[in-house]
Amino acid sequence: MKLNELQSLDDANVVGTYARLPLQIVRGAGSWVWDENDAQYLDLLCGISVTNLGHCHPKVVDAIRDQALTLIHASNLFYTEPGIRLAERLSASSLGGKVIFGNSGAEAVEAAIKCARRAKPGGEIVTLENAFHGRTYGALSATHQESKQAPFAPMIPGFKASAVSVEAIEQAVGADTAAVIIEPIQGEGGVHPIPGEVLQAARAACDLHGAALIFDEVQTGMGRTGTLWAYQATGVTPDAITTSKALGGGLPIGALITGERLGAALQRGDHGSTFAAGPVVAEAALAALSVTDDEYLLGRVNMVGERLRGAIAEMPGVSEVRGRGLMIGFDIDAGDAPGMVNAAIAQQRLLMNATGPNTVRLLPPLTIDDDEVAEAITRVASALADHAAHS
Ligand SMILES: Cc1ncc(COP(=O)(O)O)c(C=O)c1O
Repeated sequence: MKLNELQSLDDANVVGTYARLPLQIVRGAGSWVWDENDAQYLDLLCGISVTNLGHCHPKVVDAIRDQALTLIHASNLFYTEPGIRLAERLSASSLGGKVIFGNSGAEAVEAAIKCARRAKPGGEIVTLENAFHGRTYGALSATHQESKQAPFAPMIPGFKASAVSVEAIEQAVGADTAAVIIEPIQGEGGVHPIPGEVLQAARAACDLHGAALIFDEVQTGMGRTGTLWAYQATGVTPDAITTSKALGGGLPIGALITGERLGAALQRGDHGSTFAAGPVVAEAALAALSVTDDEYLLGRVNMVGERLRGAIAEMPGVSEVRGRGLMIGFDIDAGDAPGMVNAAIAQQRLLMNATGPNTVRLLPPLTIDDDEVAEAITRVASALADHAAHS
């Protein structure tokens, strides 16, 4: 089907909650995707940090195919091995406690909120300004953005936003606080790393008041920032982390990984999900984890990230570059980042994303090779030059 026909079909049949970019993607391999005319595009977005290992990684494809031929679904009324092995693997790679599975990032955040409230009944949830935690009611209540919350008011009571500073955190957290939820690097908010002293202040305040410190690693996790989990580079250990996006190698799954304390909060019957950690997605996640949790790959993520950030910082029209590993944001002087991203598809065959009027975000595959990095630098520079010429 041609793009214009698909757009009409979409308009007629799908509730229009997305501002889709003008491209139909029909297939992908590694760092590349193709449209319906077989034109090839360099993908520096990875479906918003989902296809971290590139499109159709052979280990993930094999795991999905093998499991689909064996058992697709049984429900959590029964024992199935892949999901339970995945929980063991996630726990061993991070906080050593237990895991609650769901199907998305928002559901992982919901599980975090429920755990924290179960551990401290009625307790308040403190989040940071400019944060994004998802679109379900609990996750949306944790996302203090007027434009996203106002149409759906009232929000769930007991949520409070703190400014991103040591003093503000110390003031916001008190005896009534059940949890503080923080993205170690705010992704949707424009790739803003939270300063180490703010994370440390949050840890200290949570310890002082018996609250849980939860890092939302839905976007930063699974190697994106150059360590398997972003918290591992901060020197601050949270009580739980959320993960989703890249966890399933492209299939939908979310998880709350707890440490010792929070893992004991929920009891039988407190939570559940029909599909959570079904055999196919769990095998895909085990395959994705086995490729990602690799010293060489993570070392390359740091090296390539430095190379890309260094090159972009030198480009005319760029005022600031932020991020860690291959989670990169940069601000452009000319403004209209959405316009630049849109034009880059047609003119440079390049996929990126705008997180705001001035900010472009890159979430390239962790497996991107050196030639592709050079190509990425050329295309980003050309997209900036095209944009400057038309502004
Ligand atoms: C940090 C963070 N938390 C939660 C979510 C929500 O994830 P999902 O869209 O899978 O519900 C996102 C999505 O972008 C995110 O970046």
